[in-house]
Amino acid sequence: MRTPIIAGNWKMYKTPQEAVAFVNATKDQLAPYSAAERVICPPYVALPAVQAALAGTEIAVGAQDVHWEDQGAYTSQISAPMLQGLVKYVIIGHSETRAYQGVTDEMVNKKTKAALAHGLHPIIAVGESLEINEAGQTQDFVGRQIRAAFEGIPASDLANIVVAYEPIWAIGTGRNASGEQANTIIGAIRGILAELYGQGAADAMRIQYGGSVKPDNMAEFMSQPHIDGALVGGASLKEESFVALVRIAIEAKGLA
Ligand code: PGA
Repeated sequence: MRTPIIAGNWKMYKTPQEAVAFVNATKDQLAPYSAAERVICPPYVALPAVQAALAGTEIAVGAQDVHWEDQGAYTSQISAPMLQGLVKYVIIGHSETRAYQGVTDEMVNKKTKAALAHGLHPIIAVGESLEINEAGQTQDFVGRQIRAAFEGIPASDLANIVVAYEPIWAIGTGRNASGEQANTIIGAIRGILAELYGQGAADAMRIQYGGSVKPDNMAEFMSQPHIDGALVGGASLKEESFVALVRIAIEAKGLA
């Protein structure tokens, strides 16, 4: 049984003060839901305060990106050694970083290797544009992203990696994929991982869906066999809605 993982990707929302207020208000409500892994990914500047506020809880902290070098002349960037001790997870290859910061498949691979080398757990995000989706090329496109991301990653690292399938046309648009559509693509991703690493390893890996997930549609996604959790933007910013997402995930997986 794969432990569901619900991660809130806060993007460029919440000051450190607002982030701490959120976790202080929700940590007791989230505490009983230990059947699912709960992750908060605030902006970098909020990481130290959020990490301190969550110390002693089982709620994990994640960063939204990481550079592949340990240090260097890379103005504005943050490296894996800098995140050590602050976060467990790091989102890599989110479509917004691919679109606005020019992150390529090759960089996703390098970032993944850097994160793993420093004991961080990558959440590798993949997903297709509306154009690719409408052309019926989703599986090919996402398959290429997966193969590139995992290039040279040994099987021994797989247990520390989560994949997130996020169709770009569903992110922040209110237009989500159906549970069945998402399950089909995520099943195909698992198939590629099985090709690369064997069925047992692929079956053990957790793959999330992301893109306009909210309490109203959470059960539809979480009741699908291949979907192990969600990477959530907008609906993770409200306290009651994030708590509801975690509760619904556990119920839908029959873990309540
Ligand atoms: P959304 O964002 O839930 O607001 O659609 C998801 C994401 O970008 O991870």
